[in-house]
Formats: sequence, structure tokens, C-alpha cells
Amino acid sequence: MSKADLIVGLQWGDEGKGKIVDLKAKDYDYVVRYQGGHNAGHTIVIDGVKHALHLMPSGVLSPNAINIIGNGVVLFAPQLIKEINSFGNLDGRLYISERAHLLLPLHAVIDQAAEKSKGGSAIGTTGKGIGPCYTDKVSRIGVRVNELRNLETLADKILVIYQRKEPILKAYDIAVPSREEILKDITIWRDGLLKYVADTTLMLWEALDSGKKVLLEGAQGTLLDIDQGTYPFVTSSNTISAGACSGTGLSPKNLGEIVGIAKAYCTRVGNGVFPTELHCETGELMRKAGAEFGTTTGRPRRCGWFDAPLARLACKLNGTDSIALMKLDVLDGFNEVKICVKYKLKDGTETLNAPLELEDATPIYETFEGWGVTKGARTWEELPKAAQNYIETIEKLTGVRVSLISTSPERNDTIIRG
Ligand code: IMP
Repeated sequence: MSKADLIVGLQWGDEGKGKIVDLKAKDYDYVVRYQGGHNAGHTIVIDGVKHALHLMPSGVLSPNAINIIGNGVVLFAPQLIKEINSFGNLDGRLYISERAHLLLPLHAVIDQAAEKSKGGSAIGTTGKGIGPCYTDKVSRIGVRVNELRNLETLADKILVIYQRKEPILKAYDIAVPSREEILKDITIWRDGLLKYVADTTLMLWEALDSGKKVLLEGAQGTLLDIDQGTYPFVTSSNTISAGACSGTGLSPKNLGEIVGIAKAYCTRVGNGVFPTELHCETGELMRKAGAEFGTTTGRPRRCGWFDAPLARLACKLNGTDSIALMKLDVLDGFNEVKICVKYKLKDGTETLNAPLELEDATPIYETFEGWGVTKGARTWEELPKAAQNYIETIEKLTGVRVSLISTSPERNDTIIRG
């Protein structure tokens, strides 16, 4: 019996999980998404054709991998159908959990309306309806993929969901659709998706029992976790490794190696606390050098120094076996680089443990001399001494080995340290 390996973001998302899954997918029989929805996103180019993926697991990159969308995902059918169509046909290569919840168009309307009404305290969501869909799930009024098997009943249920939210929709001049309109939509969804719907939990158990290799692909990042992240400025799912169990039906005993992905610095999209954020020229330099603009919304990402207390927390929360450190080359040419090595709290004490009231924690930095060029390096020995020192400091502070270093977006510009 084999175990499922896991890739999880250690920061606020956008750590570069796509490149790692792309590197690893060829070694796996199954690649599985387990939470989130089309708030996630990355763009890939295969044979010169650009594919914008938001819901599709990254295993679609490698011709032999079977891709699974687990029950923890909230699924916006029109988006997934678009992604499937961009590949032509994924028969036998894609399976969708019968238990995944359907994200409805009204969820996006409510998401955007809620954000607007919050004014200055808006979360800065992607506006895709993720929170409202999970809200319906937890309120036990959501609809699931298996219900596409009986469109008449599903249409009735969706109509009731709309009717219950009519006062909110009215305030934004959105009319409740007719039952016929709903039926028309869900017929398209059924026609596009039903053939991919399966008991994916059973599939995964059987895959592991027969020694197949399974890779679980996290979306967003640890600090956006609904329970453990920087609440309320978080997403609405469990992004940490524990979410991989509830989001697939695998048990903690099924999990194998857990790789945490972190950038060599930090970024965040949307609002919320960010202790090491740079509001100066240096932050602007990072944004430019790292092309730090959101894939889903195009928003500029906020940039700042590597935050070791938060990375340490994320490593603990996930049970991280090793770190993949991404985008080291973005810091090339800086005169100096910094790591937040601990925080000073309001009462004057210093700590490596990130407190709940992160707003009150002042970062204490260690400054490192800059290095020349790491871009394109493929061995540890090629890295300038200062860059090696930087990475070893991250290992010391997090207590976790950096087993992989990425030095450019290119697949082969990667240092594997084992
Ligand atoms: P939501 O997931 O759209 O509800 O957004 C909640 C928060 O998570 C916002 O700060 C978003 O910017 C952030 N977020 C959601 N998905 C991603 C992602 O894939 N990468 C980075 N941030 C994300």
C-alpha cells in the first residue's frame, strides 16, 4: 500500500506550487485538488498553447496522470467546462467527486456585494463566490455534483436557494432566475460534467491499496486557512495539510511526504496583516522582478521580506517534511536582503512564535549581504556563498530542510538537494 504525497503553500498563496507540481506530476499516477475553487489559478503552456487553469489539477500537464477534483472543492461548472474544452477531451483522465459542492452564479454576486458593503474592511476576495458557496455548504443548503443526475430536483433546490437570498439580490438589482433558466444552465453543466463524476474517495483508496502514486495539490496557502490563517482575511477552506484529508476522504494515515512551498520572500493579494510588507522602492523592485501580479484577478501583489516566525508556524501546522524555496533569483542584485527572524511583542518580549495578534508584532530583521546571480543555478555549489547562507538561515529558523530551490520559472532551473 502506498501513501499520498502532499504539496502545500506555506505563505499567503502564489508560492509557485504550479512549477513544483509540474516537476513532480510525471512521477505520479494521480494528481488531486482538495479544496478551494476557481479563486486559484495558474497559466501553463503546452505545445505552444496557453491554458489558464483554475479548477483543473495540474496533473493535466502530464499525459499519464489521472486528475481528481476532490469533495472539498467548490466547483463552478462553466469554468471547469471551459478548462476541459481547452484540452478537447479528458475521458479517463479526469474524475470529479460526487460530493463536491456546486458553486452557483449567485455566490459570486453575493461575494462581490458583501465586499462592497464592507468598504474599508473588505477582505479583498477574488469575487468568485468562494465564501458564499462554502457558507451554503456549512449551512447545509448547498447542492452537490451528484445532484446533476436528477435535474428536475436540482432545479427546484437551486430555485429555493435563490428565493431565500432574494432580499440580498434585490438590493443589487439582480432578478431571481426562472426555473426554466436554471434548468437550461444545469443541463449544460450536466452534459459537460456528468461523465467525469465518480466516487473519487473509493478511487483513491483503491489507488493507494494497489501501490499507485498519488499527489495531493493544495491551493492558496497556509496563512489563508479558515481556521489557522490570518482570520478574517483568509479564504473559506482549510488550506493546510489536514484539509487534504477532509477534502478527499483519505485519512491522516494515508499521507506520505509533505512538501511545503515558500517563496524566498513574501507576497500577499487582498487585505489583511502582513508584518514584513515593504511599502518602499524595494517592495516595488520585488514586484517587478517577480512579476507579482495575481493570475486570477491581475491585482498587484503586496511584497515583503521572508517571515521566519510565520514560516515556522506554517511548517508545524502542515507537518512539513521539507521546503521547496521558490523564486530565489528574484532577490538577485539586491544590495542587501532581510529575514524577519523574530517578533517584538507589545510588552517588549521577543519571540519566534507568531502570535494571534500579529498586528501588534514588530518584525526583528537579520540583514544579509546581497548576492550576485542565482538565476539559472542548478546545483548548490553554483549558488553564491551569501545565498547559501540565506537558505541555511531559513532552515535553522524553521527547523525544516530546504530540499529544493527554484532559480527561474524554467522547469530545469531547479536545485534538488535531496
Ligand atoms: P476568496 O478565496 O476569493 O474568498 O478570497 C479570500 C482571500 O484569499 C483574499 O485575500 C484573496 O486574495 C486570497 N486568495 C484566494 N485565492 C488565492 C490564490 O489562489 N492565491 C493568493 N491569494 C488567494
